[in-house]
Amino acid sequence: MMIMAPTWLLLGLLAPAALAQLPDFASKCRGYRASNVLRGDSYLIADLNLIANCSAYSPDLANLRLVVEYQTDTRLHVLIEDAEHQVYQVQEQVLPRPRSANASSERSALRFGFTEDPFTFNVTRASTGEVLFDTSDTPLVFESQFVWLRTSLPQNPNLYGLGEHTDDFRLPTDAYTRTLWNAESPFIPNRNNLYGSHPIYFDHRGDSGTHAVFLLNANGMDINIGRTDTGSQYLDYYTIGGVLDFYFLAGPQPADVSKQYAEVVGLPAMMPYWTLGFHQCKYGWPNVDHVEQVIANYSAAGIPLETVWGDIDYMEGRRDFTTDPSRFPMARMRALVDSLHANNQHYIQILDPGISNMANYGTYSRGIESAAFLRNPDGSWYRGLQWPGEVVWPDWFAPGTQDWWTNEIRSFYDPTTGIDVDGLWVDMNEASNMCGDTTCLSVAINPAEWQPRKPPARRQTQTEAISSRSIPNTRRSLFVQRQAEGSADKKGLPGRDLFQPAYPIANHRGALSGFTLWTNVTNADGTAQYDTHNLYGTMMATTTRNALLSRNPGKRPFVLTRSTFAGSGAKAAHWFGDNASTWEHYRTAIRQLLAFAALHAMPMVGSDVCGFNQVAQEHMCARWALLGAFQPFYRNHADISAPDQEFYRWPLVTEAAKKAIDVRYRLLDYMYTAMWRASEDGSPVASPLWFWYRGDANTFGLQTQWFLGQALLISPVVEDEAQSVSMYLPRDVFYDFWTGERVDGNGETRTVDGLGWTDIPVHIRGGSIVPLRVRSANNTAELRRQNFEILVAPGSDGTAKGELYLDDGESLDVTGRQSVISFAWDGKAFEAAGTFGFDTDVVVERVVVLGENGQTKQGPWGLREGFGFSS
Ligand code: NOJ
Repeated sequence: MMIMAPTWLLLGLLAPAALAQLPDFASKCRGYRASNVLRGDSYLIADLNLIANCSAYSPDLANLRLVVEYQTDTRLHVLIEDAEHQVYQVQEQVLPRPRSANASSERSALRFGFTEDPFTFNVTRASTGEVLFDTSDTPLVFESQFVWLRTSLPQNPNLYGLGEHTDDFRLPTDAYTRTLWNAESPFIPNRNNLYGSHPIYFDHRGDSGTHAVFLLNANGMDINIGRTDTGSQYLDYYTIGGVLDFYFLAGPQPADVSKQYAEVVGLPAMMPYWTLGFHQCKYGWPNVDHVEQVIANYSAAGIPLETVWGDIDYMEGRRDFTTDPSRFPMARMRALVDSLHANNQHYIQILDPGISNMANYGTYSRGIESAAFLRNPDGSWYRGLQWPGEVVWPDWFAPGTQDWWTNEIRSFYDPTTGIDVDGLWVDMNEASNMCGDTTCLSVAINPAEWQPRKPPARRQTQTEAISSRSIPNTRRSLFVQRQAEGSADKKGLPGRDLFQPAYPIANHRGALSGFTLWTNVTNADGTAQYDTHNLYGTMMATTTRNALLSRNPGKRPFVLTRSTFAGSGAKAAHWFGDNASTWEHYRTAIRQLLAFAALHAMPMVGSDVCGFNQVAQEHMCARWALLGAFQPFYRNHADISAPDQEFYRWPLVTEAAKKAIDVRYRLLDYMYTAMWRASEDGSPVASPLWFWYRGDANTFGLQTQWFLGQALLISPVVEDEAQSVSMYLPRDVFYDFWTGERVDGNGETRTVDGLGWTDIPVHIRGGSIVPLRVRSANNTAELRRQNFEILVAPGSDGTAKGELYLDDGESLDVTGRQSVISFAWDGKAFEAAGTFGFDTDVVVERVVVLGENGQTKQGPWGLREGFGFSS
């Protein structure tokens, strides 16, 4: 552990120059002093005591605890929490903490260093000594409603991530604020907080390595990236609560960081194969006849349609678990779903969290019986406004909520009596409350006609302070005790202003409670929305996933969620919310894909193809049909106020969509293999170019091209109405996917002209082997019966490798029934080897080697065992 002198203290009590660079409050703060330092090979623990009151925005916490763990050779955990354990910490139920392997600090790729008086810390890369994180310029501020920590950064850092946004993929580094506070965000405006909070950034430093910093904190926060007057760069965390629970991930390769992050927050959930098919949705389909017509139109146009979605139109009075008796009668809905299933198609419906509190609504009354709703601090049910009018809101932390939600789902979606859905879509779960301020309900809503029974008494939660915990004799036992302390008491400090903390985060919906659940509303486990707001969506998704698991044990559930938090990828898929039918949002979809799939461990994502709001145009929709085909989640969706925009509505879009779906389906097993890989080890399903060319500075700012899997480089036309694209090819061997022609990248941007409305440039990276179905099909069930061809794209050394994963596409547990096949080409011989647990009659018809010594070897070879040949 290195001891370094804190520069801000060496400056005396902050030199005037330094003062000018700091937020006003910082000049009065002295930070903390470390004492009782206990060290072991894999840990360090210390007390941190406040040196002098700072009171920047709220009372200081006098006593903190520092816990440092070398959890693995590439993961360092640094936790700064209150010694009393009252400050809110994210419930284990939401994000189970990764287990520490008690790695040795000597072997670790990262080193923790600190100063005792005042306390500051740094993290360095062990192999080079490079400083990755360093708080020594400023004091730590840890107050009841304001926590501030600054790390210095290198000049013009390459930073990426920090949750859902529509800004540049490489984050701006001057006067830039990312606010994390989940919010319904129509038109997904730039520089605003959107639907998902993921407090992780990747810091890419070219050849010297990539690392990431994950702050496990769900409270509202601003993260500022900026430059001091003297030009030094920094990143500041301004949170309004919670603890500083950092995970430093060493990389050093970018994809290593993706994997290391997935290890912390959970590996992405494996998706059913069919969910990679093409989906069509629309808000505003008037009745079931119309939906049937859409399906028939797709079929007539010859465009494969895998899944039809039901938006809130199907509901009676927009209440969950109902069907409108005249427009979407249950019998007709059942017939619709039966006919979809008979054609190997699928059906998904939407659910919203706002539960109408009208009289005689069974879902509501059963929810009351189960004490499943959120309460005001006085114990009454908390009310708000959502689609059905006045609503109450599920408390996903209440003990009865899971069973209640599961029962509602199981009975409404009972395959024999109800709607046999194949997946569920949970929307508006930030949560979005149409009651925009804290007075609207009392003025706008009459008391409910039906008075619920008095809520059952709440379980008493432990709030007693634990300052008296005795220090055990041995260092190790103290550490073990520390580890064993559950989060039972980390429920949130009492006495806070839960509506208007003095530090106002830059929430674009105004006050914290603006258009969402009031932040003083309490959860059954004793926590408050103030602390858990950012978890509401992920909890709804998880509870829904669990319900689907109970409804259909053994089958992989599919849940699409709008609101997310770190780790949501382990439970659900996500779309990028209410974008618009504009070229700008067509481009935005690429940046969002890169952030979620490469940085946020959430690969099953995509935009509303052709845009949600406003009027889609033919050229743009054709381009978007192609772009969407190379993103994992591929759904066309539009708002009720937007005209219908199914692909068949324009000749050009029909043509583009047919081509797009054809190639997507041929590549579907390649994509499925990448999804499986991600679910095994967190490998990115989509990634920016710098992930694979990490020393090539030209790639660091690229945000209009992406790798799908590790072999396919997608470079769509991005300019409005253009028929050409400027694309970058790193110094490497590539092959044009469409022609097979070799293209040598020279590290320069090249312009490709003459791209028709149905064209999208795709290149195979040399060194890769890509499995494809020989032909596409009308649906994924039929597709799974098609044979394969294998494309070998030799790299500069003449060799190539790749893999293919096969299973039944839907079972949760496929142990012993998987095939994991590695392909290798050494320039002369081809070999397919691996495990062959999946029983299939599908064969490999041919192997095509691209390039100068191109050749085609005709099979067939079965996929029940390995095979190979020499040329
Ligand atoms: C908002 C969602 O973002 C959108 O996709 C949906 O169509 C509407 N809610 C109506 O349910």
